[in-house]
Order: sequence, then structure tokens, then C-alpha cells
Amino acid sequence: MDNNEKIRKRYDRASSFYDFFEQPMEIMTLKKWRTEVMRELHGDVLEVGVGTGKNIQYYPDNINVTAIDFSEKMLEKAREKSEKYNKKVKLIHMDAQNMKFPDNNFDCVFTTCVFCSVPDPVKGLKEIKRVCKDDGKIIMIEHERSENKVVGLLMDMFNPLTLNLYGANINRRTVDNIKNAGFTKIEVTNLKGDILKKIIIHNFKNRC
Ligand SMILES: C[S@@+](CC[C@H](N)C(=O)[O-])C[C@H]1O[C@@H](n2cnc3c(N)ncnc32)[C@H](O)[C@@H]1O
Repeated sequence: MDNNEKIRKRYDRASSFYDFFEQPMEIMTLKKWRTEVMRELHGDVLEVGVGTGKNIQYYPDNINVTAIDFSEKMLEKAREKSEKYNKKVKLIHMDAQNMKFPDNNFDCVFTTCVFCSVPDPVKGLKEIKRVCKDDGKIIMIEHERSENKVVGLLMDMFNPLTLNLYGANINRRTVDNIKNAGFTKIEVTNLKGDILKKIIIHNFKNRC
């Protein structure tokens, strides 16, 4: 089984307990940042890695959202949420590393806690760059490895656990991956220590 398939299957399995397990993080911090992200969005919007649809209830009514995930089981939960909250969203089974959208298609792209688990993060980020319009905006709430020596080491130690349970790496260096994908105008704000970050990227494709 290739790595993509392995991670996808882990999320299929996690779909039944994901919301329950994530509830403490949701209450402590994420809920606030999910609503904050929504204020940044306009026009045609792509959510990458929609998961069980935790952002759906916060989608403003004046944007058109397409949301993708490569786990069918996570998408099923997202479909339930779109019905529950009566939100119109195009939910599509698709791999972020190989998107079927044309170039320059979305005004905004956003992710929340996704690039810890995309098997080839730089490939996925390059795809986001491609499908987001030139001058478009990419908003990400992502966690990454702490630069604190002790905390960073602990994250390395516990990484195999979260990777096996969920498919999520807690020790990824996502901001470095964003730079490696070719983005240059990146604003990073620390939200919780140096682990949880809000990242805004201005997608200037045709300029150096
Ligand atoms: C930790 S969950 C986060 C879900 C949601 N964004 C949230 O805030 O709760 C990561 C999600 O990214 C999805 N994912 C990971 N790699 C992906 C890929 N290559 N293509 C599409 N979805 C992917 C997983 O299936 C999972 O649903």
C-alpha cells in the first residue's frame, strides 16, 4: 500500500471518533480561529482537507465554497454537517496533491490543520498555488514543530503515535514547506506559542 493510501485509510478510520477526540482543542482554541478565517474569504473559495466539515457551520453566506478531501468517510461527515447547518457547499472527493481544477480558478483557498497530514506537503502546496488566482489569497491555520528544544523533541517522540492514529504529523515544518513550494509573500502569526499559526499567503505567480 502506498503512503497516500495509508494516510487516506487512517482518516477513513478516524472519521468515527475525530470530532469527539478533537473537541477539547476545538473549545480551547480552534473555534475562535475558524471564525476568524471566515472574515478573510471572498468570492470563489476552495477549502482543502475539509475533513468532517468543522468549518462548515461558520461559512458566510456570501461566498461560493468548494471543499475537497481524499477520505470518503470524512467527506460523509462533512455532508451531514452541510445539511445540518443548511450550508451550500460543493463537496468533492479529490486529492490535494493532484487537483482536477483548472489553473487560476479560486479567489481564496484555505486550510485548517491539513498540512500536517498531506503525504507530500510541497506537492499539495504547489497545487494550491496553481489553482489559486494570481493575486489570490491563501489562508491557513496550521500547527507545526516547536523551535523550543524540549517541546520540539517531545513532538518528535510523540509523532509516531499521532501518525499511526490519525495520519497527522505533529512535527512538520509547514512554513518551510510553504517556502519550498515557491511562495514568497507569507505573513505568519503565532496563535498558541510557536506551534499553532495563522499563515496568510499572497499568491503572486507571475512576478519575481
Ligand atoms: C486533521 S484533518 C483536518 C480536517 C479539517 N480541516 C479540520 O479543521 O477539522 C486533515 C484532513 O486532511 C485530509 N487530507 C490529508 N491529505 C489530503 C490530500 N492529499 N488530499 C485531500 N485531503 C487530504 C484528511 O483526509 C483529513 O480529513
